[in-house]
Amino acid sequence: KILILDFGSQTTQLIARRVREARVYCEIHPCTMPLERVKAFNPRGVILSGGPASVYAVDAPKVDPGVFELGAPVLGICYGMQIITHLLGGVVARGEKREYGPAKLSLRQAIGLFGELDQAQPVPVWMSHGDRIEQLPPGFQVLATSENSPVAAMGDPARRIYGVQFHPEVAHTPQGATMLASFVLGECRCQPIWTMHNFAEATIADFKARLGGKKVLCALSGGVDSSVVALLLHKAIGPDLHCIFVDNGLLRAGEVNEVSNVFREVFGVNLVVAKAAELFLSRLAGVVDPEQKRRIIGHTFIEVFEAEAKKIGKVDYLAQGTLYPDVIESVSFRGPSAVIKSHHNVGGLPEHMKMELVEPLRELFKDECREVGRELGLPETIVGRQPFPGPGLAIRIMGEVSGPKLATLRQADGIVLEEMRAAGLYDKVWQSFAVLVPVKTVGVMGDERTYEDVIALRVVDSVDAMTADWTRVPYQVLATISSRIINEVAGVNRVVLDISSKPPATIEWE
Ligand code: XMP
Repeated sequence: KILILDFGSQTTQLIARRVREARVYCEIHPCTMPLERVKAFNPRGVILSGGPASVYAVDAPKVDPGVFELGAPVLGICYGMQIITHLLGGVVARGEKREYGPAKLSLRQAIGLFGELDQAQPVPVWMSHGDRIEQLPPGFQVLATSENSPVAAMGDPARRIYGVQFHPEVAHTPQGATMLASFVLGECRCQPIWTMHNFAEATIADFKARLGGKKVLCALSGGVDSSVVALLLHKAIGPDLHCIFVDNGLLRAGEVNEVSNVFREVFGVNLVVAKAAELFLSRLAGVVDPEQKRRIIGHTFIEVFEAEAKKIGKVDYLAQGTLYPDVIESVSFRGPSAVIKSHHNVGGLPEHMKMELVEPLRELFKDECREVGRELGLPETIVGRQPFPGPGLAIRIMGEVSGPKLATLRQADGIVLEEMRAAGLYDKVWQSFAVLVPVKTVGVMGDERTYEDVIALRVVDSVDAMTADWTRVPYQVLATISSRIINEVAGVNRVVLDISSKPPATIEWE
């Protein structure tokens, strides 16, 4: 396994993704990880990430120089390369010219991470740095140059320590994945055995051994994470897994039926559907504030879930779909990021339900979780499902939520999904949905004047929901969605398109 030490770069997770795509397991830890813990981790190789700091800044993040003595190969990326230089006796200087964007690399030696590349060809790479290497540390050689970086890559083949000024992990470095694969498979000699097939088998075997005869409770939301958790456990312990699906009445068209059908009928999972739509609706009556809606939905969810759980009796474990990005200890040199919305995570542990947790996805990225789902035979409608917020349609109805408004939105939203699927766009965008704007606008229908609600269409592209841009959906698809909603959905006479990016807007409207 590979250890990635993070210096706060926004692309550190991408390094981990590329390493895992080479089928090698890796973990991200803060650069401040104590040397004893690094040794206990026993890495086959270490990658030092980029970071926003300058090695000369007063509080510049450092790494214990002991990592260079482990005998495992080390690769420094951008800041990681500068810290290697700084710590091993070279000189880093402020570059007069900031190098940012595409650059062409000329290889001097096709070794280390360049082992698979053709030395004669210029290699397109993505640069983003201000400082540069002025003097190599003793023992190092220049492996590649670029127009603005006489030392775009360096290496000490004897100690197997390498540094690159560019970012091999980003898509703008087309051969970057090959370089990282060469490093972890060739230089570090890791075995390419991190596959989701192996992961699923090992996890199921581990659960069989560890959880045999114990009762496990799982909150199924219909999303891909909780679905994969439920199936892994089901394959391991069968009827000792108790799944609860809370129908809060705020789900999309057909969702409740689909989930209960797939899990109960197809897989034979022990699943209870708690029908609580009316309870949620009554609690939401008169509530207009989005945060208040989220709190009420969160509390009501826990209440319903607990009541169902009581009927099962004593359980030993609670299963949760926590993913790796949620557990990475982050080092932030950018200050705390503001909490904008109180994201209520369905399946979150009710504080007072003291149970041990089973979190089989703690090591996985979202893509890997999807792959496990496919391995286990989950249908594409669940594996490829777009993210859907815990509070569901309640935060897509501006203002007060009511039964009739939910029915209107659900129907309009169903049309959006149908048409996005028909156009082959559903899997290409991050999210696509309808928002009900209960503002009356005038229309005409036949000879009559109408005065009805507005539906807003929100379709966005994103990689992690932190930033997003509105999708340029073809006019023809927009036209079909609009005319179908206006013709088919009673009470709606106008469809508008949301063309805001995030930031400064958000993906959801509430
Ligand atoms: P925003 O609207 O903040 O959304 O740009 C970012 C992502 O988070 C989802 N989202 C939520 N998910 N509970 C959730 O589980 C929530 O309260 C919530 N609010 C937003 C949103 O759908 C998008 O994917």
